[in-house]
Amino acid sequence: MLLERRVAIVTGAGRGIGRAIAKRFAAEGASVALAARTAAETGAVAEEIRGAGGKAATVTADVAQTEDCERIVKAARDAFGAVHILVNNAGIYGPVRPIEKISLQEWDEVMAVNLRGAFQLAALVLPHMYGQKSGVILNIVSVAAKAAYQWSGAYSASKAGLIGLTHTLAAEGARKGVRANAIAPGPVLETDMSEKLRGELAKFRRGDSSAIGAQMAEGTLQGRPQTTDEIASAALFLASDLASAITGQTVNVDGGIVFY
Ligand SMILES: NC(=O)c1ccc[n+]([C@@H]2O[C@H](COP(=O)([O-])OP(=O)(O)OC[C@H]3O[C@@H](n4cnc5c(N)ncnc54)[C@H](OP(=O)(O)O)[C@@H]3O)[C@@H](O)[C@H]2O)c1
Repeated sequence: MLLERRVAIVTGAGRGIGRAIAKRFAAEGASVALAARTAAETGAVAEEIRGAGGKAATVTADVAQTEDCERIVKAARDAFGAVHILVNNAGIYGPVRPIEKISLQEWDEVMAVNLRGAFQLAALVLPHMYGQKSGVILNIVSVAAKAAYQWSGAYSASKAGLIGLTHTLAAEGARKGVRANAIAPGPVLETDMSEKLRGELAKFRRGDSSAIGAQMAEGTLQGRPQTTDEIASAALFLASDLASAITGQTVNVDGGIVFY
């Protein structure tokens, strides 16, 4: 097993990509602390993990709230005694509108969840990771940080910011046993976020949401969406010792959309 005796925090672990990562990590031996705002969803994922013989704890928390981030790290340490892996996966798309129609409040909300929460959680776990001379931080970003799409101003900027943060985390942690990388998924059509996004785009374009999904898939070299399990596979690789020389990178798991 690739993650035996490791403790991982996965934010946004109640559904979608975070759920797939949490389940994969647990199947590889990690004890996983699952964080999100909807207790019923994290509870259900924890049950799935325990049912399969794995170890899971849950914490109901909003990563945009300072005290909640503190509670997430405390819950993981209280339950499992350490933190070796942090996956900053919790995210929202925010307003699907042109820049001039995005309010400051909407902008701030997206930044607070997608970027500030990741920053705060990293800052909270780093002293422990430096102390134990090992740790991995994985930030889930998006091809939207690299490609140019309309109506994604706050989201794209938050994810590009998270790539910048990943570089600094890698630079500061490299000689202290801590690696930091990002994963940039393309269209993972099966998740709630993706479904909502397609609904919003359909309103804007006066089109049909399933046709928009088909267009998104067609925009990849492979001509198909990615699955949550495919994102989890990349996360497992980067979190494990198989990736021991990889830090500061953004791995595109997008079926071929962006090439840098
Ligand atoms: N799906 C895609 O096509 C795609 C593509 C590229 C990147 N991504 C990225 O992948 C990540 C996961 O997305 P997904 O598609 O799996 O979305 P999803 O199905 O909507 O899941 C998002 C998860 O994040 C949690 N979350 C949202 N806001 C939170 C907050 N303030 N505090 C704590 N947890 C919060 C949600 O739970 P609660 O609402 O209960 O808090 C949920 O568990 C996101 O960062 C997203 O930007 C997705």
